[in-house]
Amino acid sequence: MATEQWKQVDDYFTSKLQAQDDATDYVLEANQEAGLPAIDVSANQGKLLYLLAKMRGAKNILEIGTLGGFSSIWMARALPADGKLITLEYDEKHAQVAEQNIEKAGLGDKVDIMVGAALDTLPKVEQQGHTNFDFIFIDADKVNSPNYVQWALKLCTPGAVIIADNVVRNGRVIDPHSEDEGIVATRDLMDMMSREDRIESTAIQTVGSKGYDGFLIGVVKS
Ligand code: SAH
Ligand code: DHB
Ligand code: MG
Repeated sequence: MATEQWKQVDDYFTSKLQAQDDATDYVLEANQEAGLPAIDVSANQGKLLYLLAKMRGAKNILEIGTLGGFSSIWMARALPADGKLITLEYDEKHAQVAEQNIEKAGLGDKVDIMVGAALDTLPKVEQQGHTNFDFIFIDADKVNSPNYVQWALKLCTPGAVIIADNVVRNGRVIDPHSEDEGIVATRDLMDMMSREDRIESTAIQTVGSKGYDGFLIGVVKS
């Protein structure tokens, strides 16, 4: 019941605040056609990522977990003409669908997709000299989110924004006895953040078309 109402409110805000958006509508259709799971950020979460990237004045964005490129497209739209987004994806098929979607959205020149397990591609990102990310979105395999935050700290500039998706999961994050490895890792992530004095952070619970979940949001100290 609540979920249905949350979805209707999301749809209402989206209809008022996000003009008809053929590019992102197309992505969701193409993803469905290709059989990708519908676990993209919601339309208004996408717009939120775009707004946060704009507020930060982001020029170099790193994303971990591309899927079909829905969130990549939202963030890349916030980039200036000379801005770049690198997105890391394990699944070759997801990366192929994303590449087509991103091209179709007219953002092919701004976005690079690197295929492979992110813990293997992150060292390559570093070797290629990309150590100046000012906005990082972590949304891949939740078990590695703590590792990805450590990589984010290694590859970012002072003042960078770091965001991690799915830190609430219907409230299951508060269960200290959870045997779900994603929940255990999210709790490890929170323990890490509570000790991490290089980042100021908070976590925000959200409801909407994706149910009850939330973002971890941090800013790296200057
Ligand atoms: N950010 C996307 C959704 C990502 S879903 C959006 O909002 O549109 C999570 C993605 O992470 C999936 O495509 C999955 O294949 C990918 N993934 C899972 N494990 C990974 C890993 N070890 N390295 C990189 N990507 C991974
Ligand atoms: C799942 C993954 C996500 O990144 C998300 O936002 C929602 C669900 C999942 O793996 O189920
Ligand atoms: Mg997610």
